[in-house]
Amino acid sequence: MNQGTSKKTKPLTTNKHLIRWVEKMAELTKPANIHWVDGSQQEYERLCHELVAAGTFVRLNQEKWPGCFYARSDARDVARVEDRTFICSLSKDNAGPTNNWIDPFEMRRKLKELFNGAMQGRTMYVLAFSMGPVGSPMARIGVQLTDSPYVVVNMRIMTRIGLPVLKEIDKGEARVVPCMHSVGMPLLPGQKDVAWPCNETKYIAHFPETREIWSYGSGYGGNALLGKKCFSLRIASNIARDEGWMAEHMLILGVESPDGEKTYVAAAFPSACGKTNLAMMVPPPALKGWKVTTVGDDIAWIKPDATGQLRAINPEAGFFGVAPGTSAKTNPNAMATLSRNAIFTNVALTPDGGVWWEGMTDEPPAECTDWRGQRWTPAIAAETGAKAAHPNGRFTAPAAQCPSIDSEWENSAGVPISAFVFGGRRSTTMPLVYQAFNWSAGVYVGATMGSETTAAATGTVGVVRRDPMAMLPFCGYHMGDYFRHWLKMQRALGSTPRVFHVNWFRKDENGKFLWPGFSENMRVLKWIVDRVHGRSQGKETPIGWTPYYEDIDWTGLDFSQEEFEKMQEVSRAAWRKEVLGHEELFIDVHDHLPPEMIYQRELLICRL
Ligand code: OXD
Ligand code: MN
Repeated sequence: MNQGTSKKTKPLTTNKHLIRWVEKMAELTKPANIHWVDGSQQEYERLCHELVAAGTFVRLNQEKWPGCFYARSDARDVARVEDRTFICSLSKDNAGPTNNWIDPFEMRRKLKELFNGAMQGRTMYVLAFSMGPVGSPMARIGVQLTDSPYVVVNMRIMTRIGLPVLKEIDKGEARVVPCMHSVGMPLLPGQKDVAWPCNETKYIAHFPETREIWSYGSGYGGNALLGKKCFSLRIASNIARDEGWMAEHMLILGVESPDGEKTYVAAAFPSACGKTNLAMMVPPPALKGWKVTTVGDDIAWIKPDATGQLRAINPEAGFFGVAPGTSAKTNPNAMATLSRNAIFTNVALTPDGGVWWEGMTDEPPAECTDWRGQRWTPAIAAETGAKAAHPNGRFTAPAAQCPSIDSEWENSAGVPISAFVFGGRRSTTMPLVYQAFNWSAGVYVGATMGSETTAAATGTVGVVRRDPMAMLPFCGYHMGDYFRHWLKMQRALGSTPRVFHVNWFRKDENGKFLWPGFSENMRVLKWIVDRVHGRSQGKETPIGWTPYYEDIDWTGLDFSQEEFEKMQEVSRAAWRKEVLGHEELFIDVHDHLPPEMIYQRELLICRL
C-alpha cells in the first residue's frame, strides 16, 4: 500500500541518539517512507482508512459498532510462537532451560540478514510508546520501528504513544528500549500487497543485556505488539530483577466493601484460565454493596515504595482479550468495553457488518463469514467442525472504556497490593482456595503452580503443565533465579502481601464442576480480603490455611457444607503425587534452584 514516491516525515524528537538509530535502521531495512507517529486521533483515523483501502480492515457497521474495525490474519499467523521466541543472553545459562537460546552474536548476524531490505516498498513507522502512565516513575519507554500500520493502531489502544512520549524522550533521562519489528514481506517494484503480510520464517528475539527486542515475520498479537509480552514481561523481568521490582503476568483488581474499604489483589493464572473475566468480575447481587474494580487484566509491574509497601501499575492501556467465550453472561464489562473503538481480529463477520464468536450468544447467527473468510453456518459447523472464530481470535479495546475500571488505574504511583493469588485449571487435588503459611511457602505455591492442558493446545488433554507464576513463556531469564528474586523481594518489604491459591475448576467423580465460578468467585475474594485484614479464621491443613464453611459468605447461594468440604478436600494421597509432580520442574532448574524451595518441599512432605 505504500509504493510510490518516498516520503519522510520530520523527526518528532530532538534526541540525537533516537534520530541516528532510526536512520541506521532505515539504512538496513530500506523502507519507502518513514513516518513519525504523533499518536493523534486524526492520524489513527487516517491509518484505519488506509488499512480499509488495503483490505486489511473492514469498517464495521458504525451504528452498531461505532469506531470498530475487523481484521483477518493470514491463517499461518494466528498466535504467539513460543518455539520461535528466543532469549539471547550472553550466556546460555542466564536464559535457563525453560527458554530457547541462541548466541546473541549469531542471532544478530541472522537478524541483520533478515532485516536487510525487509521494509522495501513499505512505510517504517517510528512508534514511541510508554508502558505505564507517561511520566510515572514506574513507567518505561520503548520505540518500536514497524512496517505494520495494523500494529500501530493496535499499539495506540494497548499503550500510550506519540508526542507525549517523545517529549519524555527529549528530556534525555529515560533509557529507551529499542524494538525492531518487520512483518518480513518487502514489496518489490510492481509487487502487489496482501491483506495480512507476514513471513513463514519467524524470530521473536530478546537481548536482555542490551534491552533490545527484534521481531520478524509475524504481525499478530504478542509477536508484534512489542510493548506487551516482549517488553513488559521478558525484557522488564530483567530490568525488574536488576532494579529490585517485579514484572509479572498478573491481573490487578480492587475489591471494595460496602463501607468503602478498598483492597487490591494481583493474580497470576496461565493463559486460558479466565484472567480477564476475574479482573472484570461483577459480584453476585446478593452480596450487596461489594464491588470489583479493574486495574489490569494481564500484566502488573510491582515495586516497593519508600515504606516497603508493594505498589502496582498496569503498564498497558488496553485489553487484548480472547474473544471466544466472552459474552454478556461471562463478562458483561468486557462486552461493554469492546462495544466501541475496538479492533477485532480473527473472529467472524456477520452479514449486518457486526462480529460474532463462539459463546458470544446462545444462538449462533444463521450465517456469517468465518475468520478464514469462508461462509459459515451452524449446519456447516455441525458437519465439518469449523469454528466461526479462531480460538485465539481477539478484541483490542481501550481500558478506559471498561465500566469497572478502577478510579486509580492511572495513578502514577500505582495501587497498594495486599494479596497475591495464584491459580490454574485443575480438575483434582487443588481446593477452591487456600492460603500459604508465609512468604516463602507462597513463593513455593507460585513456583509449583500448574494447569491442565485443554483441547485447544496440542498434546494430551488433562495433563498438568507446570507454569511457575504463569511466567513460563514470559520470564526473560533463568527460572531458578526468578524464584530467588521473589524470595529476595521480601527483604524490601515492610509487610509481605498474603499469598493464596485458587482453583475454580475442580470436578467431581462424574466430571461435573464443583464450583459455579464467574461472579460467585466474589465469595472467595471476600474471604481473601477478610484474611488480609485479619478478620477471618483459617483452618490449618498440611498445605496451608483454608476457610471454614462459616467463613464464606453464602448469602444468596445454595451451597451445602457437604459440597464445600468436598471441594476443599486436601487428600494426602493426591498431594503426595502432586509433590512428585513438582520435581519435574525443579529437576530442570536444579542448578539455580534456591535452597528455600527445597526446604519448602521438605516441609510440605513432612506435613503430609
Ligand atoms: C496472552 C497470553 O495473550 O497470556 O495474554 O497468552
Ligand atoms: Mn497473558
